[in-house]
Amino acid sequence: MKALVWHKNTIELTERPYPQIIHPRDAIVKVKLSSICTSDLHIIDGFVPKAKDGIVLGHEFVGEIAEVGGDIKNLRIGDRVSANCETFCGECFFCKRGFINNCSNGGWELGCTIDGCQAEYVRVPFADRGLTKIPDNVSYKNALFTGDILSSGYFGAELCNVKEGDVFAVIGAGPVGLCAMACAKIFNPARIIAIDIDEYRLNLARKSELADYVFNPGKCDIEKEIKLLTEGRGADCVAECAGGKNTFETAWKIARANANVAVVAMYEENQILPLPQMYGKNLIFKTGGVDAVHCEKLLDLISGGVINTDFLVSSEYSLDNIIQAYNDFRLKKDNCLKFAITY
Ligand SMILES: NC(=O)c1ccc[n+]([C@@H]2O[C@H](COP(=O)([O-])OP(=O)(O)OC[C@H]3O[C@@H](n4cnc5c(N)ncnc54)[C@H](O)[C@@H]3O)[C@@H](O)[C@H]2O)c1
Ligand SMILES: [Zn+2]
Ligand SMILES: [Zn+2]
Repeated sequence: MKALVWHKNTIELTERPYPQIIHPRDAIVKVKLSSICTSDLHIIDGFVPKAKDGIVLGHEFVGEIAEVGGDIKNLRIGDRVSANCETFCGECFFCKRGFINNCSNGGWELGCTIDGCQAEYVRVPFADRGLTKIPDNVSYKNALFTGDILSSGYFGAELCNVKEGDVFAVIGAGPVGLCAMACAKIFNPARIIAIDIDEYRLNLARKSELADYVFNPGKCDIEKEIKLLTEGRGADCVAECAGGKNTFETAWKIARANANVAVVAMYEENQILPLPQMYGKNLIFKTGGVDAVHCEKLLDLISGGVINTDFLVSSEYSLDNIIQAYNDFRLKKDNCLKFAITY
């Protein structure tokens, strides 16, 4: 079968044998659509030390069950499923508490330490947990982002504890930030503020009615603007979904006293937490790799028309053209947001 394989600094579309069931909780999925994640670029650029040379990349996908192991009772051949980006057993200390990102028997494996989904077929471990059936009225495209960026956006809104009437500021109007805004709407904040240096993305956040206000910190005094909107207090909650040079600093500066500040972004450099400067502001910081435990709920919200992530797909590429897709994604060609890879 065709597969996109990563070898130190390079990627290659090549032939690989079909995956086999090696554990009774495995399933083999025929991939129908996948996407490229910024984390895939982090692997290629050498920022993910645990990534194994020679693996098939990719962890964001939907597909059809082709084979199931003997212990899988909740899935059948032919089922349409959405995959969780995390592999998790559901039974260890962390899984029992919903912290699946830290599963003792899993973690980020697909497309990192074991073969991922940018291939015609993929083996999914703990498939009874990691795959969620897609409701009949939800297309593969509708469901594509459920197990990764949509879950990450929800995670951001959840870490922020967004409540009715809150002013919720999101730094970074990329795919994750836009998903955080879409998910926050479920909690009825009074206003959502999108902050980015990319005008195209800010316009998109406004046009798609995900944000009530948009600001470009390159063009305004962002702290001042947020204060004007909040009677001088600052935002009730802030999700940092940018990972830029100074965006962590912006996050705590625009937060009001006692606010929740959630760091969803992955940084390539250490950040500074200047405790003397923020003394008395009594902020609550939360950080993390996504605990994607709400896939079923998110698919229900998509099914009910509450959330729609289709607008994130800016182009489609066939698996044959995936190298081109990676090049275009890296260069953010034509204001791209997310790509759908077709099989
Ligand atoms: N915690 C998790 O589990 C998890 C999951 C998925 C992605 N991520 C991380 O979340 C982040 C966002 O992911 P994405 O796919 O949306 O990435 P992205 O790069 O497409 O979006 C980031 C956005 O931040 C903006 N930005 C950069 N510098 C800025 C600055 N100084 N001020 C304002 N805006 C600025 C960019 O213009 C861009 O629109 C990344 O760091 C990614 O690695 C984390
Ligand atoms: Zn990802
Ligand atoms: Zn576990």
